[in-house]
Amino acid sequence: SPSGPSDVRAEIGVIGGSGLYEFLDDAVTVDVATPYGPPSDPLVVGEIAGRRVAFLPRHGADHRWPPHRIPYRANLWALRAVGVRQVLAPAAVGSLTHELPIGTLVVPDQVLDRTSGRDRTYYDGPPAGVVHVGFADPYCPAGRAAALQASAASGWPAVDGATLVVIDGPRFSSRAESQWYAAAGARIIGMTGMPEAALARELALCYTPMALVTDLDAGIETGEGVTMAEVFAVFKENVGRLRTVLMDVVAALPTERTCACGSALDGLNLGIELP
Ligand code: ADE
Repeated sequence: SPSGPSDVRAEIGVIGGSGLYEFLDDAVTVDVATPYGPPSDPLVVGEIAGRRVAFLPRHGADHRWPPHRIPYRANLWALRAVGVRQVLAPAAVGSLTHELPIGTLVVPDQVLDRTSGRDRTYYDGPPAGVVHVGFADPYCPAGRAAALQASAASGWPAVDGATLVVIDGPRFSSRAESQWYAAAGARIIGMTGMPEAALARELALCYTPMALVTDLDAGIETGEGVTMAEVFAVFKENVGRLRTVLMDVVAALPTERTCACGSALDGLNLGIELP
């Protein structure tokens, strides 16, 4: 349950964070306790284009959580607890194809989950019921459309559709792994997209990823392989325009949900009460 200003509500969540908060009007910080522990950081809630938005830095404001230790369950739960129903999820990714060079913005349409050992479900035994949610189309169609339309209007059009492979990390991939993922159809690679997207679906939230290509993965680059410094440098170079695009996407999100995301749990026996 939210503590701090308890009346703080938001309708849109943005997970990803750094460098985004300073443009919020009337931002307040909210500590939210969840049955899964605290989220990565307190939520920062404010307004963009008349929409109430909750920001959550996925890795913590000081970047303390590695991808395999991010409290994904607490993060999605905390967002839902303050009223969020649509989530935008920017993230840095590597490219598995020269068709998606560094600096490309991508709105993925499919995901390959290669993570393991992460807490990946809310329906993890009693008291939670046995719940199998549909995940054929992992991302919100309305959110994807808004992201594509708003990014095109802002002059930095996102690529429509790609399969994202999510690896466990924290290490980068070997060249063989990288080429194997590409052969399997993946075109971008990251470490945080799962179980985040699946947990959003398990809470009947709309979830829209926005991937920024920060590097060419080991399978297609000819140098020494990916480095963390490279990823951070490219992210930093692009964070200004990414923030601008995200604000435009927030403004373009539907005010009423008509997609199927909100009915993902209809008829299922949850056993737990969602916030
Ligand atoms: N995040 C950014 N670049 C990446 C890469 N090459 N592999 C996995 N995760 C990444």
